[in-house]
Amino acid sequence: MYRVSPADGVAWVTGASSGIGRGVCLELARRGYTVAATARRAPELEELALEAQGLAGRVIPVPGDVIDRAGMEALVACVEAEHGPIALAFLNAGTYVPDAAGDLGGEGFQKTFELNVGGATNCLAPLVSRMGARRKGQIAVNASVAGYGGLPRSIAYGASKSAIIVMCESLKFDLDRSGVTLQIVCPGFVKTPLTDKNTFPMPFLLELDDASRRICDGFARGGFEIAFPRRLAWPLKALNMLPYGLYFKFVGWATRGS
Ligand SMILES: NC(=O)c1ccc[n+]([C@@H]2O[C@H](COP(=O)([O-])OP(=O)(O)OC[C@H]3O[C@@H](n4cnc5c(N)ncnc54)[C@H](OP(=O)(O)O)[C@@H]3O)[C@@H](O)[C@H]2O)c1
Repeated sequence: MYRVSPADGVAWVTGASSGIGRGVCLELARRGYTVAATARRAPELEELALEAQGLAGRVIPVPGDVIDRAGMEALVACVEAEHGPIALAFLNAGTYVPDAAGDLGGEGFQKTFELNVGGATNCLAPLVSRMGARRKGQIAVNASVAGYGGLPRSIAYGASKSAIIVMCESLKFDLDRSGVTLQIVCPGFVKTPLTDKNTFPMPFLLELDDASRRICDGFARGGFEIAFPRRLAWPLKALNMLPYGLYFKFVGWATRGS
């Protein structure tokens, strides 16, 4: 399995203006990477580039909207023309809109799918064709442990993250043949502006620096899935192997009052 190093080219991170994407940009820069950082808010990206000054690598702001498919094609072409081949990509831009049965198909539902699934796909397409032609590259897509199975108040989010996991499982068969490494990242709860809005208890909540280090360690280690913390990810995986009767009983009990 191909694993990237800073000598192979630049890293590209989406959703880089806050939370996990921002943390991973700084961690990659600490590890010597030149990182192209994408999100819609350009001032936050400029601030991030300043914060990275003095690290072994650097951060280059490349603002963009991942929902814009043609825009992502152009952005990838521009990054490669100006800074060299993208060797490592972390497709992380995403959102969580809590929902319930009454929200099915509503605005939050559509936004979740458009960004979490559509946005990732818009970035994957140019990367797959360019890295495939070079027969070299590493791509990690940020899913979530919430994609393992249905959880309360996570109808669109859980389904969007499940879609990412299954899309990547399927895509891996093709990418293995073209020499491109594909990974999924399945974090538990990480303290970010996204989770700061949650009013329910978040077991084993991780600090951002810790999560960013674990993700970058996972890039270096290889393997299809980067899941953490294990004390949450593994029981959730095991729960999904139970017969549905037991699964719904246990998850309903564990999340009562949430
Ligand atoms: N935090 C957690 O506990 C957790 C756990 C598992 C998985 N995740 C996943 O981790 C990812 C990041 O979450 P986070 O917690 O770090 O959230 P966050 O702090 O809200 O960050 C979301 C990032 O996505 C960017 N973004 C949103 N819409 C975009 C668009 N259309 N185009 C480009 N960038 C866009 C935002 O920047 P702009 O607004 O500037 O565009 C921001 O940088 C998400 O995919 C989330 O599902 C998070």
